[in-house]
Amino acid sequence: MHFMTTKTRITNSFVRIVLILFLLPLLLTGEEIISPQAPLSIYLTWVADPSTTMVVQWISGAPEEAAFVHYRKDQPEAPLESAQAAHNPFPEEQPYYVHKASIMGLLPDTTYRFTIDGYSEEHLFLTMPKALDSPISFIIGGDTNLSNLHIFDETNQQAASQNPAFVVIGGDLACAASNNPKKKEDCNRWLEWLEHWYQQMKTKDGRIIPLLVTIGNHEVKGGYGQTPEQAPFFYHLFASPGERGYTTLRFGTYLSLYLLDSGHTHPTGGEQSQWLAQEMSKDSKMLNRIAVYHVPAYPDVRPYRNTYSSAIRRNFVPIFDTYRLHIAFENHDHAYKRTFPLTSDRTDPLGVVYIGNGSWGVKPRIPKKPSRTMYLDKTMSARQFCKITLSATEREVTAIKYDGSIIDQFSQPVDSVALQQRLQQERLNRKKWEDA
Ligand SMILES: [Fe+2]
Repeated sequence: MHFMTTKTRITNSFVRIVLILFLLPLLLTGEEIISPQAPLSIYLTWVADPSTTMVVQWISGAPEEAAFVHYRKDQPEAPLESAQAAHNPFPEEQPYYVHKASIMGLLPDTTYRFTIDGYSEEHLFLTMPKALDSPISFIIGGDTNLSNLHIFDETNQQAASQNPAFVVIGGDLACAASNNPKKKEDCNRWLEWLEHWYQQMKTKDGRIIPLLVTIGNHEVKGGYGQTPEQAPFFYHLFASPGERGYTTLRFGTYLSLYLLDSGHTHPTGGEQSQWLAQEMSKDSKMLNRIAVYHVPAYPDVRPYRNTYSSAIRRNFVPIFDTYRLHIAFENHDHAYKRTFPLTSDRTDPLGVVYIGNGSWGVKPRIPKKPSRTMYLDKTMSARQFCKITLSATEREVTAIKYDGSIIDQFSQPVDSVALQQRLQQERLNRKKWEDA
């Protein structure tokens, strides 16, 4: 039998008093002790109709089994609904988990509030409209790189301040993988990237801006000609573009986004180009056809004949030309460029404009002068992204630097308006000829 001595009793009472004194205020005032505000990172994406679905992903240090996302329309008395999340451990035995909840059956163009089990903070997301009744804007850029956190943050903040509906990053996100196929990825770079992205990519009213991505050479151990197993973090962290590595995301009848793999974990030819041709053949009536991928068909820093750009021109460009892609957003060269509209490498008013070249989070390189090539209309050594605004009659692209200054702008009429303009011009030409 155990008997407490007076000294033990006094010590125990003292401990109890100390515990009550310290814990009571916390229990009374805070959920802090019960649930932290937010996980390390929350990010949103889409794998299906962006007007009626949302994928909520987050990162934590625990499996959080049977966690739910609770959401409701941002209106008083709106009923609360829930979606269960799946969780997956990080690759390469890192002590973190990625969680994913797919929400379906949402209303288009509607703001929702949501919370995640175990965390107190409330967040907002907005679904996309079903039709283009009023203009929408989104941002496409690439090469966030994380070589310098300050410049990554600076460009992020400028992009978020533009209030985009969503952002697409065309590869080389955290640059966590090395060219050595046997070297492990740098997990801390991914964590830092996701944490900073979550903190900064919110609009002024607190809405989290959805993220779409394509793979770049620095997401892959070995860079080029590898398999998805060599890019474990990319494929574990991002629900889109999914296991196949490339996908089409369709927004009603107003936008098809082709998110492609420029030869890192899937060859650009063969299955991927056959798939691309099939996908684009379904989209002849789509108001806007836009592709995003990492390695440029039309470089502005590297040589025109470099192996990887030549493969894009051989395998993707003829399909773009056949099915009339409107704009291709390219990356990897770290300097701004816009080509003339091109068909089969030649200037053609009905051709594809190739734009971008990825300088979101990098010190920009010095590009070639347009006068030194047949295809470049404009180049600039600038840290930038592109803002795309779609309306019922035109698509407008504005290249914006990290400080908000505009470095380039161009617009294209949608196909039906372009056709009317051509017919009208032909009528005017005919009249001129007849009157002469
Ligand atoms: Fe790259």
